[in-house]
Amino acid sequence: MILCVFGLSFALAEDFITLKEYAKMLYENPRGISCKECHGADGASQVLGYYTKKGEKEPFTVPSIQNLSFEAFKEALIEDKDTKSIMPTYSLTPSEIVTLYNYIQELNKEKK
Ligand code: HEC
Repeated sequence: MILCVFGLSFALAEDFITLKEYAKMLYENPRGISCKECHGADGASQVLGYYTKKGEKEPFTVPSIQNLSFEAFKEALIEDKDTKSIMPTYSLTPSEIVTLYNYIQELNKEKK
């Protein structure tokens, strides 16, 4: 009996890790270019590169996606991008979008 309970909690713990690993995998390898390429490992704002504007070197900054409401996050992933945006359009399912959102929120909480 003791063995059985132990086995169960072990299975649950493993389940939890699997969910997180799944989310990480989705973030790093969605069907398209990795979010990580542009948004970094944790979705913080970062400079992706530099371009020249009127002879001046300007940084190209990707905004942080750590403190968005779920609505704003979802919108950004399902709307048609304007032609200026370099972010690719993904065809993620609603549950994949929830998983990605929670993943970034969790990473954020762990750091605080
Ligand atoms: C090629 C670079 C690139 C990739 C890959 C990329 N993004 Fe983006 N993302 C951007 C840029 C640049 C913006 C800023 C707005 C714009 O230009 O569309 C942005 C904006 C966003 C926003 C909206 C931010 C805001 O303030 O409204 C969200 C949410 C987002 N990205 C999530 C993701 C997720 C999740 C993935 C992976 C499935 C991803 N992005 C992949 C470059 C990228």
